This record gives sequence, structure tokens and C-alpha cells, in this order.
Amino acid sequence: MLPERGGGASLKALVIEARGHIRPPKRYLSQYGQFLEHAPYSERDLRGPSEPLLVDGGEAPVLVRNRNGLSRLTYLRHPFDVVGWDGYLYPYVFNINDFEPVVKRTHAPPPVHQTFEGPGFVICSFCPRPLDFDDQAVPIPYNHHNVDSDEMMFYVAGDYSARKGSGIGIGSISLHPSGFTHGPQPGAVEAVVEAVKQGHDRTTEMAVMIDTFRPLRLGTAARRCEDTEYAWTWARASGQREGDG
Ligand SMILES: [Fe+2]
Repeated sequence: MLPERGGGASLKALVIEARGHIRPPKRYLSQYGQFLEHAPYSERDLRGPSEPLLVDGGEAPVLVRNRNGLSRLTYLRHPFDVVGWDGYLYPYVFNINDFEPVVKRTHAPPPVHQTFEGPGFVICSFCPRPLDFDDQAVPIPYNHHNVDSDEMMFYVAGDYSARKGSGIGIGSISLHPSGFTHGPQPGAVEAVVEAVKQGHDRTTEMAVMIDTFRPLRLGTAARRCEDTEYAWTWARASGQREGDG
């Protein structure tokens, strides 16, 4: 069943598939598999099916991802036509509005935002939170590049002020390959420092980041919608691009 969105707005969804399990980071779990108290979410935030999902109808085609691609199986009945769930493997929902962000005196690098890990990648949630609270803090990321990973970001909601002027808006996806130096747009540091003086103390940004430990390759769909000017936006000292949120 696809999620619905009212008002005729188009739905933009980020779908992540993996050749293995996507699960909570090991450092959030005890040796018995329970969430530890410092983890930004816990068992009570994971929601399984609330009732049996009974499906009418006969044969159901099912695509199964395996190590070599996809297999198409045909079941006599829909696999969700069950009266309950048992065992370890079952569908569940985690809403990142339930993620409890960690905030530090000065900038906390992305591992504090980690939500899941998969084979060869991590998933992080950037959620609305108070800003870094030291008097001297510059509460946006510093310029950096990743030595070990490619970095993909999906901008979900809120005001991502550090990237104002880059063309990034809600629904955008950015990709910063390993070794590519990136950071706030020119002028963003001065703007946020001034905003803090005026009482600005929270960020409303919401984004999902995927860091992969092997290079990402672009498919044809990604190439078709690529903004080829994006890589040069840091070179501009001023000026805003369409789509800024
Ligand atoms: Fe980055």
C-alpha cells in the first residue's frame, strides 16, 4: 500500500534497498540485543503491524531481492494474508519524529545522528533540535570532506539554512563523493552567528543522510536530473539560486 498525501501534492519518497539487513547500530545495543539508554530511540519507538493485514484475492506475484538480482515468485495467496506475526523478521515502522537528537556545546559530527546501519553504509537522521549552545559556537557544519565514504543527503523538511544559495530545496538529493570538500554556502556562517544574536536557537531542518563506504554509481535517472551547476555553488560569494528553502 502506498502512503497517501492530501492536497494533490506529489509524494517524494527515498527508498533504500540493501543486500543484507538494515538494523540499529551495534553501539546502541546491549550484548543481549536491547537498546541501551544512550541510544536516540528504543524498542517503544518501533511499531509493528497493529492488526492482521487480510488481503482478498488469489495468486500474488512477489519480487524477492537476492544476491544476484530479483526473483519473481507466485504465491497462491498474498503473503500478508496472515492472522499474526511471530519470529524475528517482521515489518516495522520507525518515524524519525521519534528520534531524540543529541546536541552538544559545539558542533556534533554526524555519527550522533546515526539511525541504522547496513552492509557497507549507514543511515542518519537530521531532526529539528536546539542549536549548539556554547557562546562561541558556530551552529552549522564546518567545511569538510569524507576520506572513507560518499555522502548522499535527502532534504525532507524545514529550513536547511547552511545550504541556502545552493539551489537545494525540500525534496532535493545531494551527493558529495569521497574527497569532495563541502560545507555551508558562502555567507552562511555570518548569517547564523547574527541570527543567534537575535535569539535564534533551534533548527527546523529534517534530512536523511546515507554514507556509503564504497563509491556510489549514478543510474541514468540520476544523470537525467542532475544539476550540473551544483558543484560550483560554493564558488559564488553571493546570490541565491531558485529552489532555496
Ligand atoms: Fe558532509
